[in-house]
Amino acid sequence: MSISTERTTRTDAELQEMARDHLWMHFSRQSVMTEGPGVPIIVKGDGHRIWDSNGKEYIDGLSGLFVVNAGHGRRRLAEAGARQAEQLAFFPIWSYAHPAAIELADRIAHLAPGDLNHVFFSTGGGEAVETAFKLAKQYWKLAGQPTKHKVISRYIAYHGTPQGALAITGLPGMKSMFEPVTPGGFRVPNTNYYRAGEMGFTGGTEEEFGVWAADRIEEMINFEGPETVAAIFLEPVQNSGGCFPPPAGYFQRVREICDRYDVLLVSDEVICAFGRLGHYFGADAYGYQPDMITFAKAVTSGYSPLGGTIVSDRIYEPFSHGHVSFPHGYTFGGHPVSSAVAMENLDIFEEEGLLANVRENSPVFRSTLEKLTDLPIVGDVRGDGYFFGIELVKDKATKATFDDDESERLLRGFLSKALFDAGLYCRADDRGDPVIQLAPPLTIGPAEFDEIEQILRGVLTEAWSRL
Ligand SMILES: Cc1ncc(COP(=O)(O)O)c(C=O)c1O
Repeated sequence: MSISTERTTRTDAELQEMARDHLWMHFSRQSVMTEGPGVPIIVKGDGHRIWDSNGKEYIDGLSGLFVVNAGHGRRRLAEAGARQAEQLAFFPIWSYAHPAAIELADRIAHLAPGDLNHVFFSTGGGEAVETAFKLAKQYWKLAGQPTKHKVISRYIAYHGTPQGALAITGLPGMKSMFEPVTPGGFRVPNTNYYRAGEMGFTGGTEEEFGVWAADRIEEMINFEGPETVAAIFLEPVQNSGGCFPPPAGYFQRVREICDRYDVLLVSDEVICAFGRLGHYFGADAYGYQPDMITFAKAVTSGYSPLGGTIVSDRIYEPFSHGHVSFPHGYTFGGHPVSSAVAMENLDIFEEEGLLANVRENSPVFRSTLEKLTDLPIVGDVRGDGYFFGIELVKDKATKATFDDDESERLLRGFLSKALFDAGLYCRADDRGDPVIQLAPPLTIGPAEFDEIEQILRGVLTEAWSRL
C-alpha cells in the first residue's frame, strides 16, 4: 500500500527503511527495526479507530497514549489550530501574553477545584511535574522554610523523564542508568489493594488499607523530618503498575497529613485530568483539594501538544508582588495554536457530554472486562472511569506472577503483538506486575466494550495455552 500524507507518498517498505535508519523511538528497542520485522506505522485515525500503513484497522484502546480523549479525526480541532496559526502562530508568554493562553488559563482555572486559580503552561507532562517540583522548592524558600526540598511519591509511579521528574518517578529500572538523579526523592506504598500484603499491609478491608497506605506517608515525613519535605506527588489513579484507584478516604487522610506537616499535595493528573475518570479533574472524582494539579495529554486531545501546572492562591501569593519571579519556563509553553485547540476541545467535551458518557458507562465497561476473570490468567481487573488495568498471573490462588523469562516471552514476545494483530491497540506493561491497560477515547460505549472483551478473551486464552 502506498501512504499519502500531506507531504509525501511513500510505500510501507520505504517508510520502514527510513525509520530503521533515522528514527529513534521512545522507550523502545531499536532492534525491532534493525533486526526485527519493523515498526507498526499508523497513518490515520477516525473516532476510536486507527489504520496502519497496510490499511488494517484497529480499535484505539489507549487513546494513543492516554491522549486522544475526544477521538481521532476531528476536523474542527484541526481548523481551530489552523485559524490560530493564521492569526498568530507563535508568541511566547515570557513577559508578554496572547489571547489564546489567557483565555485558556481563565477557563482551566474556572474548571479546577477550589482556589487552584493560576496556570503555568508547559508543553507536556514531564515539564508540568518539573515545574511543580521547582515551584514547591521556591515557594518554601519564599515562605521562610528554606530546608523544605524533598519530595515523596509512590512505588512504581511514573511521573516523567526530566531529571527532576525522575527523582519523583518510582521505577528503579528507569533511573538506574541515569544515576545520580536529582536527590531528594522518597517512596511510599501505592494503593494496589490486590498486592497490599506484599507492601507490608497485614490484612483488612480496602478502606483500612487506604488508612494504612496514607499513614506510611506520615511515617516517611517524620522519618525524613517535616522541615525537609516540600511536597508529595500522587496520581488520582496510579497508572504504572496497572490502574490503582484510591481506597475511599485515602486522599482525605493524605490531605490531613499534608496540612499537619506543611507538605504540598500535588495531584499529578497528566493522565487523569480532562475526562479519563468522568470529571475534569481526578481531584473532583475523589473529592480532595490539592495545592497543585499537573496536566497535559488530553487537554488538547493530542491535536497539538500542551501541558501545565495549576497552582493555588496560597502558593501563588508570594510570587504575585514586588520583584519576585519564578525563573522557569518553556519557549513553547502555552503555545497559541495548542491553546486555541484546547479551547475547542473543551467545547467538544461540553457539547457532547463526554464526561457524563464516561460516568454513565464506566460501570458497564468494568463489568464487561470483569467477565474475563473466568480465565485462569486474569488475576485482577481494576480501575475507574475509562481507565482499566487487567493484571495477569500464573496462579490465581497464590497470585504468583511471571518470572523475567516468562514476562519476556509472554508480554513482549506474544501479547502485545497478538493483541495488535487481533485488532486492538492497547498496552501490555510490565513495569510493575504484568498488566494490560485500557484507556479508550471517551466517545465509546457498550458495543465497543464487547468488541474489546472478545479480542482480549481470544488472545489471553491463547497466551495461557502457550505458558
Ligand atoms: C502521571 C504522569 N506524569 C507525567 C508524565 C510525563 O508526561 P510527558 O510524557 O508528557 O512528559 C506522564 C506520562 O505518561 C504521566 O503518566
